[in-house]
Amino acid sequence: MRVLVTGGAGFIGSHTVVELLEADHQVVVVDNLSNSSLVALERVAGICGRAPAFAKVDICDKAGLRQVFAEHRPEAVVHFAGLKAVGESVEKPLSYYQNNIAGTATLCEVMAEHGVRQLVFSSSATVYGDPETLPIREDAPLGATNPYGRTKLFIEEMLRDLHVADPSWRIAILRYFNPIGAHSSGRIGEDPQGIPSNLFPFITQVAIGRRDRLQVFGDDYPTADGTGVRDYIHVVDLALGHLKALERLAAGPGLVTCNLGTGQGYSVLEMVKSFERVSGRKVPYEIIARRPGDIAACYADPSMAQKELGWTTIRSLDEMCRDGWRWQEGNPKGYSETE
Ligand code: NAD
Ligand code: WQD
Repeated sequence: MRVLVTGGAGFIGSHTVVELLEADHQVVVVDNLSNSSLVALERVAGICGRAPAFAKVDICDKAGLRQVFAEHRPEAVVHFAGLKAVGESVEKPLSYYQNNIAGTATLCEVMAEHGVRQLVFSSSATVYGDPETLPIREDAPLGATNPYGRTKLFIEEMLRDLHVADPSWRIAILRYFNPIGAHSSGRIGEDPQGIPSNLFPFITQVAIGRRDRLQVFGDDYPTADGTGVRDYIHVVDLALGHLKALERLAAGPGLVTCNLGTGQGYSVLEMVKSFERVSGRKVPYEIIARRPGDIAACYADPSMAQKELGWTTIRSLDEMCRDGWRWQEGNPKGYSETE
């Protein structure tokens, strides 16, 4: 199948492009490289033995998108492109609404102009806000607590409205929990710009010596050891979930919404211990105050994805740590040192 991947040079996108190419799909990546590097796509080509087509286009650029659709004639779109930093979204809400929501609307308009109505969308567990019950099911109440999360929620609503207006749209809304790790080759991985806001890349940067110590945001949550609990999912398991979603859309009409998580939560200190055991590196840490906006615990009920997509996770927390460490150890400064 001819698949257009927006944001395909990014962390999750690049891992999904690998799996698409390995499954013999034709891939074109659209990315404005605002949070990624072309080196990632060069590494993808090294892993797969062939490169995806690439167009440096912003999804808000209607003319640019039209050109890509005319030239590459995609049959489906996997849509990763978006800004994703919660803290930044609080400081710059308009840029998040413009980039994520208006950009997605533009993408859908150009898709419809070219008769392309199969869309896989990157949503986030952040649409659940602070969950009332755990594990979280897809029919749990929705309520984002920051501008970034609201862009995901509003885009979901937009896609649901689009499907009601025109049921010929086939849409998969995938709510990711906490993707971490890297491809087993160690050639691609997560390369956050600046100081990582997420736990796992911060841990790997401490282990490689780029950061002195981890600051643990609170140990007074109502969890087993007092630190935050999250549903970490291997980025390759996540990528494979997108191929299953494409198969589901090719098989028949509808709109499906699925949690992509393992169903297993781990605390910050459990993550630190697992990483230390797997990497052989110490991760010094200090407990500080809670991070504003954080919730105590969040983990998925993954049964809908099993039922609707025939997909489940297979990689363990140790494999996430092992693969993530292999990437970081081989690329202490991410992609930048080769640019
Ligand atoms: P990422 O920043 O690594 O990748 C996003 C890519 O989109 C980048 O390559 C960036 O250059 C590109 N991009 C951003 N705005 C664009 C625009 N206007 N036009 C074209 N390209 C643009 O992020 P990621 O971690 O790979 O996340 C991918 C998607 O998954 C995002 O939509 C994110 O919100 C969502 N998500 C991520 C997580 C996570 O923890 N990483 C969790 C849930 C959901
Ligand atoms: C995980 C746990 C922190 C960093 C975020 C976004 C969410 C989604 C995934 C896009 C929490 C603790 C973290 C640190 C720490 N992204 N922590 N010290 O907050 O679950 O979700 O990323 O969709 O929208 O909100 O992930 O990795 O930031 O935090 O103690 O330096 O680690 O308190 O308990 P989070 P995270």
